[in-house]
Amino acid sequence: MKANIVLLPGDGVGPEIVAEAVKALKAVATRFGHDFEMTEYPVGGAAHDLCGDCLPDATLAACKAADAVLLGAVGGPKWDALPPEKRPERRALLTLRSELGLFANLRPAKVWDALKGASPLKDEIVARGIDVLIVRELTGGAYFGEKGRSADRTSAYDVTPYSAHEIARVARIAFDAARRRHGRAVAPQPGRAVAPRPPKVTSVDKANVLETSRLWRETVTALHAAEYADVELEHMYVDNAAMQLVRDPARFDVILTENMFGDILSDEASQITGSIGMLPSASLGAAKGGLYEPIHGSAPDIAGKGIANPLATILSAALMLRHAFGLAAEADAVEQAVSDVLASGVRTADIASPSGASSAASTSEMGDAIQAALSGL
Ligand SMILES: NC(=O)c1ccc[n+]([C@@H]2O[C@H](COP(=O)([O-])OP(=O)(O)OC[C@H]3O[C@@H](n4cnc5c(N)ncnc54)[C@H](O)[C@@H]3O)[C@@H](O)[C@H]2O)c1
Repeated sequence: MKANIVLLPGDGVGPEIVAEAVKALKAVATRFGHDFEMTEYPVGGAAHDLCGDCLPDATLAACKAADAVLLGAVGGPKWDALPPEKRPERRALLTLRSELGLFANLRPAKVWDALKGASPLKDEIVARGIDVLIVRELTGGAYFGEKGRSADRTSAYDVTPYSAHEIARVARIAFDAARRRHGRAVAPQPGRAVAPRPPKVTSVDKANVLETSRLWRETVTALHAAEYADVELEHMYVDNAAMQLVRDPARFDVILTENMFGDILSDEASQITGSIGMLPSASLGAAKGGLYEPIHGSAPDIAGKGIANPLATILSAALMLRHAFGLAAEADAVEQAVSDVLASGVRTADIASPSGASSAASTSEMGDAIQAALSGL
C-alpha cells in the first residue's frame, strides 16, 4: 500500500527516537512491499525557535492531510518560560488533538518476557501475563465541561457532560480493538495448558453513583448487543478496576473508560510494566489515520547523548501500522522484532540491569538491531 506519513520529531530526544522508528518503517516497507512516504515537519520548541510558533500552519495542514502522524516529544526547559498558551505542550499537543478530532487514546501496557523483572508487581502475578489495552475517551467529561467558582471563591464545580454519541464512538474503537487482538494466547500458568483468549472489553464506570456513568453503561451495553455480540463485555466500577489492575492484571484484555478515569488508570497500567521507554500510544479520531507517540516526554536530561530507548516510538509505529493502515501482519512483525531483540539481550541503559548498564546499546544500535531483525538479517 501507499501511505503518506507526517513525522514530527519535536524536542529533546524526539529527533533521536523518531529516526529509529523511521528505520523500522523502512524495513517494513521493503519486507512487505509498501510505499511509505515520510516527511518531517517542525513542531514544539524546535518550531518555536524556527518561526515563533510551536505549531506552524504548514505543520498542522500537513497533519490534517496525512494518512497518519508519528510524533517524538515536545517541550523542555528552554521553552518553559513562554506564556502557557504558547508553550509546546499546550500549543502543539492540545491543538493537534483538538484539530485532528482525536477522541480516543489507546495505551497498551504489556510486560515483555525478557523484561519481567522490571515490573514492580510480584513474580507470580507477572507470570500470569500482563497485556492490557486501555482505551480512554479523550475529548469529553469533566476536563472539557463547564467549570467555575462561586462569587466568594469558596466553592467550585466541574460539570461532567457526556452524550450517547460520544460514548458510542469510543466504545466502537474499543470493541474493534478487542476483535483485532482476538486469538492471542494467555501466558501459561504452572500446571495449566495455554487457553485461547476470546476478545473481551471491560467497561469501567461509576454507575452506582454517577448519572453520566449510567448513560455510559446503557450506551455500551446497547452497542454491544447490536453490533459486537462476539466480544465478551463486562462492566466494572472504577475503584474495583484500580484494585484489579495490580491484583490480577491478567484478567484484562481491553479496558474502555471515560476521560478522567482513563487518565488515572492508564498511568497505573503503564507503571505496572516498569519501563517508560517501552510504552507506545495511539490517539484516534473520526478522520483517517491518527497520531502515534511514545507516552514519555522529551527527556531533556538525556537528550543528545544517544542513549534514549527508541522502542516506545518503534512500538508506536507498530500501532500506526495496525490502526491507521490495517496492516496487522506488519505490526506483529515489528512487535516480534522487539521481542526477539530483547530476548537476544540487547538493552538500552534504561532497561539494562545495573551490571549491564555500562555496556548498554545506544539509541541507534537498538534501532539497527530492530531493523536487522525485521529484515531477517
Ligand atoms: N507528549 C509529549 O510530548 C510530552 C509528554 C510528557 C512530557 N512532555 C514534556 O517533556 C519534558 C520532560 O518531561 P519529564 O522529564 O517530566 O518526563 P520525561 O518522560 O521526558 O522523562 C522522565 C524520565 O524518564 C526518562 N526517559 C523518558 N523517555 C525515555 C526514553 N525513551 N529512554 C530512556 N529514558 C527515558 C528521562 O530521562 C527522565 O529521567 C517536559 O517539557 C514535559 O512537559 C512532553
